[in-house]
Amino acid sequence: MSVQTVSAVLSLLAILSLAAVALRVRALAHERRDYAPVQIGAYRIRAIGFWLLVLVGLPTSVWLFRANPYTVQAAAPQVVNATGYQWYWELDTSQVTAGRPVKFRVTSADVNHGFGLYDEAGTLVAQTQAMPGYINRLTHVFEAPGTYRVLCLEYCGLVHHNMIAEIP
Ligand code: CUA
Repeated sequence: MSVQTVSAVLSLLAILSLAAVALRVRALAHERRDYAPVQIGAYRIRAIGFWLLVLVGLPTSVWLFRANPYTVQAAAPQVVNATGYQWYWELDTSQVTAGRPVKFRVTSADVNHGFGLYDEAGTLVAQTQAMPGYINRLTHVFEAPGTYRVLCLEYCGLVHHNMIAEIP
């Protein structure tokens, strides 16, 4: 079970217990009762809650924080400069390695294009705009080796449909 799943389950449990408390309070709100016994009961619940936090919450927090993703050094990215032209793509690197982040620096030499990365099944895996005068940065990790395609996602003229580049 991943840390995220554990966190999600714990959060859900906490939310459900808070909701249960709110519903119980609502159910008891119409009853007339003496204050003292209610207070004693509430203090007992508070003490139980405190020790639950200390004995369960604290160790759980320490356990969840043992792996801090922000301190993990990411692999050096592979940089690919991509420029859109009417009507083709120019990529300065045609081959990248799967499993390592690829940083695309995307721009256009003429009009706006859409830089769409597709896998072999034709599923769009990442996209950004290719705009003249701007460099848009897109970081993507190709999880599986294969031949990926760059297609234009924005109508840019007569041969828009033919703006296809391959990344083997
Ligand atoms: Cu470039 Cu459509």
